[in-house]
Amino acid sequence: MGEFYIVNPLIERYLNDLFPVRDKVLKEMEELAERRGFPIIGPVVGRFLYQLVMVSRARRIFEMGSGFGYSAYWFAKALGDGGVVVCTELSEENVYLAREFFRKGGVEKKIRLYTGDAIEVLDGLNEEFDIIFNDIDKEYYPLVVDRAYNKLKHGGLFISDNVLWSGRILNESDSSPATRGIREFTKILLSHKGFITSVVPIRDGISLSIKV
Ligand SMILES: C[S@@+](CC[C@H](N)C(=O)[O-])C[C@H]1O[C@@H](n2cnc3c(N)ncnc32)[C@H](O)[C@@H]1O
Repeated sequence: MGEFYIVNPLIERYLNDLFPVRDKVLKEMEELAERRGFPIIGPVVGRFLYQLVMVSRARRIFEMGSGFGYSAYWFAKALGDGGVVVCTELSEENVYLAREFFRKGGVEKKIRLYTGDAIEVLDGLNEEFDIIFNDIDKEYYPLVVDRAYNKLKHGGLFISDNVLWSGRILNESDSSPATRGIREFTKILLSHKGFITSVVPIRDGISLSIKV
C-alpha cells in the first residue's frame, strides 16, 4: 500500500473553492507554498485552528515548526488583543519570510519568533500555554508528547499535523524515521493518561488532544 489522499482531492477542492476570499497575505503565502511545493496546513485546517482558538478562548499559543508563518498567521488572526503566538523555526530564510508576512498582515505585535529547534526552545521556557501546535520533522514527534503535556495549562489543547501521513502509516514496509515517528507518536498519544485525543481526518490528519 502506497501513499493516498486522506480526503478525496475533489472534496478538498470543492471545500477550498467554497471558502470565502481570504485576506491578501494568506493568499500570497498559499501561492508561495504552491510555487515552492512547501507543506503548509492550507485553508481548511487553517480555518479549523482558527475555530479552536475561538472556542477555547486561547490567549497563549506555542507553535513548533512555523515554516514561513502560514499556520501562525491563522492563529494570530484568531487571537484577541494581548494574545501571543510563540513561533519556532529552524530555517533562517523561513523566519525572514515569516517576519515579512506578519508585518504585512499587521499581526507582528502578537508574534514572538525564535530561530532554532522547537523542542529546545520549549524546554527553555518557563511558561504555560493554552495551545501547543506541533508540525516539526515527523521523526521527532514522539519527543513532543510529554513536553507538550508539561507546558500546557489544564484544559489546554495539543494539536499535531500530518498524523495520517498520506496513508504511509499503513504501509508495513515503510520504516522511514518519519513514518515510524508518526506511528509511535500516535500510539503514545492515544494511550496517554493525561490527554483525551481524537484524530480528525481532514487534509493529512490532525490529532486534537485535551489535557485533563
Ligand atoms: C510542515 S512545515 C511547517 C508549516 C507551517 N506549520 C504551516 O502550516 O504554515 C515544517 C517546518 O518545520 C521546520 N522544522 C522542522 N523541524 C523543526 C524543529 N525541530 N524545530 C523547529 N522547526 C522545525 C521546518 O524547517 C519546516 O519549515
